Amino acid sequence: MARVNEHYLKLTASYLFSEIARRVKAFQAAHPGAKIIRLGIGDVTQPLPPAVIAALHAAVDEMGRAATFRGYGPEPGYEFLAELIARHDYASRGVTVATDEIFVSDGAKSDTGNIQEIFAADCVIALTDPVYPVYLDSNVMAGRAGDAGADGRYDRVVYLPCVAENGFEPPLPERPVDLVYLCFPNNPTGAVLSRAALRRWVDWAREHGAVLLYDAAYEAYIRDTDVPHSIYEIEGARAVAIEFRSFSKTAGFTGTRCAFTVVPREVQGRDAAGAPVSLNALWLRRQSTKFNGVPYVVQRGAAAVYTDEGQKQVRALVDHYMDNARVIRDGLEAAGLRVYGGRNAPYIWVKTPPGLSSWDFFDKLLGEAHVVGTPGAGFGPSGEGYFRLTAFGQRGETQEAVERIKRRLAL
Ligand code: MLT
Repeated sequence: MARVNEHYLKLTASYLFSEIARRVKAFQAAHPGAKIIRLGIGDVTQPLPPAVIAALHAAVDEMGRAATFRGYGPEPGYEFLAELIARHDYASRGVTVATDEIFVSDGAKSDTGNIQEIFAADCVIALTDPVYPVYLDSNVMAGRAGDAGADGRYDRVVYLPCVAENGFEPPLPERPVDLVYLCFPNNPTGAVLSRAALRRWVDWAREHGAVLLYDAAYEAYIRDTDVPHSIYEIEGARAVAIEFRSFSKTAGFTGTRCAFTVVPREVQGRDAAGAPVSLNALWLRRQSTKFNGVPYVVQRGAAAVYTDEGQKQVRALVDHYMDNARVIRDGLEAAGLRVYGGRNAPYIWVKTPPGLSSWDFFDKLLGEAHVVGTPGAGFGPSGEGYFRLTAFGQRGETQEAVERIKRRLAL
């Protein structure tokens, strides 16, 4: 028998959202009549914008004609999409990003999970806690996290607690680390970093020779004008940061799959002898070896997001979900719960009622209100005592879920 990668055996449990799906399925099987409302996984529910649909249709027709058929595309993505990204997502905010610094991919989940491969196995990583589980689990699989203790913390990972007491803003690491995963607007807490706070991180990374892995998948949800949409809005960030973006939550692409990662030419690692190595070159090498690019049709669909019509339609989608966020926030506050997030992010982070752990609250809401959320503890030890609801549900279901929760908590 072939020996397995035993680092996988160090993963503490199944992937969070698979575990939730398993529990919900079991509950549904036991209560076939229950009308369950799912506000757990952050999956969008509105259809793709019409401009995207039209572009997808047109691209499918191109694939059906010999003259316009495409086979393998360039692994980092088609130039037409990279140019639009560079212009609309960056130049419009005064940020220069070249097209060969943009790597189009099938998702920010894949990219944030895969990026660790280009770093040494003994790099020390720091994570905000709670955290999107992919950052941790991909490092556990690679053997970089060490062993989990009784408290669920891995002994080689530096945890940066983000709790109500510090405004969900991660403290700077107190010991040397090589890589820091930051996600803002944050999944799961819904918190954002001000320009000044992000500048502190960039300055710290420059001073300590660390690389910031900045997940900005939810930037379209930012409302406050002082909150940067890209880490490259901060001077000096190009030398220390890799940024991840996605069309999933912005334009409804969770099932269509398109995202991109920016690796500036300036950002470098080092080899064992201390000589600088371009991370852009390593990521290009990694992607061209292991990834064959996003389908042409899908990239055409993503490009349509940047048309005038596409932009209007995408803004309407985001506004729709942010209205859901307001419905959840207002309803849960009226029910007497302490509520965070949901102002610049599609996630609402709720303090669980006294005496209830986050899994207790999950079971209570599923069992009594038939509403599915995500227990905060699933995102890390500092998520204990919190619970996440997503604003990506259908409007009617979101309203009904909030009413059901209010009724249950009033009892
Ligand atoms: C979440 O619910 O945290 C997200 O949907 C997960 C993801 O984007 O992969």
